[in-house]
Amino acid sequence: MVYTAQHEMLARQTPDETAQQRFVLALKRHVMISMRPGVGLAYAKQAEPAYLAEHGRPPADRAEAEEALDSSSHYRFTKAINRISQEMMWQAVGETVYREKDRLETAAGRLTDVAAAKGSLSLDPSLQPEQIYNDCFIHLQPEGYLPADPKGTSIIAGAFYESGGRLYSMGRGMGQEDSKAGAVIKWLEEVRPGWRPKRILDMGCSAGSASTAYAEHFPDAEIHACDLGSSMLRYAHARAESMGAPVHFHQADAARTKFPDGHFDLIVSHNLLHEISGDTRRGVAAESLRLLAPGGICVHQDVDLLFRGKAAWEEAERAYDLHFNNEPFWLEYATSDLTSELTAAGFPQQAVNEAKVKKVAGPGHWYAFTAVKPE
Ligand SMILES: C[S@@+](CC[C@H](N)C(=O)[O-])C[C@H]1O[C@@H](n2cnc3c(N)ncnc32)[C@H](O)[C@@H]1O
Repeated sequence: MVYTAQHEMLARQTPDETAQQRFVLALKRHVMISMRPGVGLAYAKQAEPAYLAEHGRPPADRAEAEEALDSSSHYRFTKAINRISQEMMWQAVGETVYREKDRLETAAGRLTDVAAAKGSLSLDPSLQPEQIYNDCFIHLQPEGYLPADPKGTSIIAGAFYESGGRLYSMGRGMGQEDSKAGAVIKWLEEVRPGWRPKRILDMGCSAGSASTAYAEHFPDAEIHACDLGSSMLRYAHARAESMGAPVHFHQADAARTKFPDGHFDLIVSHNLLHEISGDTRRGVAAESLRLLAPGGICVHQDVDLLFRGKAAWEEAERAYDLHFNNEPFWLEYATSDLTSELTAAGFPQQAVNEAKVKKVAGPGHWYAFTAVKPE
């Protein structure tokens, strides 16, 4: 594997593990590039005619289109291979992560020694994340986002997130770089040339790959990041330290942080929206307004998944992740309207926007909801 950001916390593969991961990557690419695009044809040629013959009308909504699609052998085979490739990905990554676990825990202990660290880690054992994150391991990540951390040394959630995420994103043909923060930074340069935010918050930071990108791009800014679990955050903190990036990590619910009012000039989230409930998403909108300083901006970026304007069969195909990839909030996001929610939270309507943010490391774009707090 060729990774762009090299650092001490990255689980290192043996040549055998690299070969195993390359195989998974090839399989994932085959699913994304050769199999999934054929689903539309399978719908038009097989699924819809079969449904029409049985019901005397075409499928009227997503649920009916899902039923119709299931009559297509191409669709059933595609989703089976898709699921298997995801399981294989975590197995392959797990070989490396579990073999490297002791080294990574030791490295994290050394890197985060408070005397030397540039950033910090504030844990809040009283935080009670929604139970779903314990019951449902999102996108099948082994041990989930909130693994047990009895000794206070776990880094496993972050190690899995970073190694799995890199393999997964390449499988989706997005290029090899962590492009989300880079894309938003480039977009910010276009809409606010020369702007230097003083304080930045990265909501739902996971392993902190975006947080460190902001720290590198805005070296004079104070960077904060929050997420739910200690294992994820300990990895993120150690990772940032190993890269020399001063980031302050906090165990906090993005919808209910303990930062003071007006504390941040820039609030970002990357791929958080599709992994939270509607209530939390509305909470994130309200918290963004509360936390922004006058003139500050929030940029909530996510995948371009929204159902608007999509045909029933496309909605059905996109529901794959809800049913087979443990993404419990996938459809809740796809049918959401954060623009209205930001306005309902109190941002003036003219201050709220949606942007297609061009990817920097591959074709296509990300979707972003942005809002500016009035001066
Ligand atoms: C898809 S990952 C985000 C990826 C990350 N921002 C990046 O750029 O690599 C979603 C993250 O959001 C976190 N999360 C979910 N609900 C949250 C909440 N209410 N507050 C803070 N973090 C949350 C999860 O623990 C998970 O680490």
